[in-house]
Amino acid sequence: MAAKWLKDTVFYEVYPQSFKDTNADGIGDINGIIEKLDYVKSLGCNAIWINPCYDSPFKDAGYDVRDYKKVAPRYGTNEDLCRLFDEAHKKGIRVLLDLVPGHTSEEHPWFRESQKAARNEYSDRYIWTDSCFQGAPGFPYIGGECERSACYILNFFKCQPALNYGFYKVTELWQKSTRDPAAMATREAIKDIMRFWLSRGCDGFRVDMASSLVKNDDEKKSGTSAIWRDVRRMLDLEFSDAAMVAEWSNPPLALRAGYDMDFCLNVPGGGYSTLMRDYCNHGGSRNGDRNAEDHSYFKKDAGGDMNRFLDQYLAWYEDTKDWGYISLLTCNHDTIRPGYNLDTAELKLAYAFLFTMPGVPFLYYGDEIGMKYLDIPTKEGGYFRTGSRTPMQWDNSANLGFSSGKAGDLYLPVDPSDEAPTVAAQEEDPDSLLNTVRRILALRHQEEDLQADAGFQVVCSDPAWPFVYRRGSLLCVVNPSGEAQKAPLPAEAAPTDVLFAIGNVSLENGSLTIGAQSFAVVK
Ligand code: GLC
Ligand code: CA
Repeated sequence: MAAKWLKDTVFYEVYPQSFKDTNADGIGDINGIIEKLDYVKSLGCNAIWINPCYDSPFKDAGYDVRDYKKVAPRYGTNEDLCRLFDEAHKKGIRVLLDLVPGHTSEEHPWFRESQKAARNEYSDRYIWTDSCFQGAPGFPYIGGECERSACYILNFFKCQPALNYGFYKVTELWQKSTRDPAAMATREAIKDIMRFWLSRGCDGFRVDMASSLVKNDDEKKSGTSAIWRDVRRMLDLEFSDAAMVAEWSNPPLALRAGYDMDFCLNVPGGGYSTLMRDYCNHGGSRNGDRNAEDHSYFKKDAGGDMNRFLDQYLAWYEDTKDWGYISLLTCNHDTIRPGYNLDTAELKLAYAFLFTMPGVPFLYYGDEIGMKYLDIPTKEGGYFRTGSRTPMQWDNSANLGFSSGKAGDLYLPVDPSDEAPTVAAQEEDPDSLLNTVRRILALRHQEEDLQADAGFQVVCSDPAWPFVYRRGSLLCVVNPSGEAQKAPLPAEAAPTDVLFAIGNVSLENGSLTIGAQSFAVVK
């Protein structure tokens, strides 16, 4: 069972580099996050997830951790982070940190020790073959780089050697089992890191590549799942209020492994892509053609079919609703921003849908104002992802209010367009995307039937009609087309009240007409 506070929680993802710079060095910092907590709260978000903010050489923007227990000096100090926990809690905001359990930086002291020829405590903290001339078939590996005559396995980029949690099926002499003392020691080391931050006020973790721990795992990820269940037992005993969200994209496995939530993200031909991007784009990278026919359901008159999302989602939802939550998201630091494909009117409908669905939704910083994806060169291992990581656009002062430093010193350039959306401009317009997000989230907090636990049933997903779904006693209707339509409500429904509308909605004698590009919640 998931942490109770998640029932009415909406997360805001903060990319610390790019959120708010308070000391004019051009890079966002922890104090900047503290400064903007009231803004986060004003959105209706009552929890944040911060991408890795630990000491790192930043070859993968911080997902290459050099010291799990130290805030990177460019963001501030451990004291600053603890103050963030306190200040957030005072405002009713929870804080998740990012846990990177599958790999470290190649500069982590554990790896430095592990590379030595002489055996030591960390020799088997990573996964090594028996000789630098013996590769690791089926795995990305590196040899010939260190004093130790052995090859080591990578978990992601070259800078990220895989930590050793053992092999589920041992097929080579150099592979250790998951019960090997070295594999058990890695697991305990990760628990120790979790305890370190949880005991200082952190409310839980977003877990990076959560399914990647045990190698040669079976299809059900039995080896990796056993580790997470063990971690969950520790949390239940020591930090029972902590919440864990997996980057796994397989809720049936992740939630059974003890996670509270799993992202609905990398689902080939489904998931996040069918909602926010173009379908041909698997997992959010930029290989899709932005002008392709095959678009997000919310794209006006694109003939999208909600069933492409629902086919996968409903199976997951039915299978997992007693275990935990599926997390839908506007986008994240690894995907193209939804503003790349969808205009403001379309984004409003997409967000209205996301934020009225069961589970625990996530809003990526800047998506609430429709920040654009920028076509810019890679930074810190970002590659195509860099364009979704640019500075938050607060107002029209220098550097769009992100930093008072010199433009040339910024971590990444701000959106140079004259039309770059800003928080300040959208505050003024009651109909802006920003204020629409606020209205939707306020409604979600007000109506228990729109929160994480209330039921969800599809009423009509025929592509020829508006999409209608039931949440508890409420009906939600989305019409992404350019024509007003009658909503195909169930005969017995006969709603009498429109609780919420985007666009034109009229209700007469129980019959609902939903205007072009409109959304309604009725009762
Ligand atoms: C996850 C992160 C991504 C990172 C990778 C390796 O997918 O979200 O940003 O590059 O893991 O840690
Ligand atoms: Ca700074």
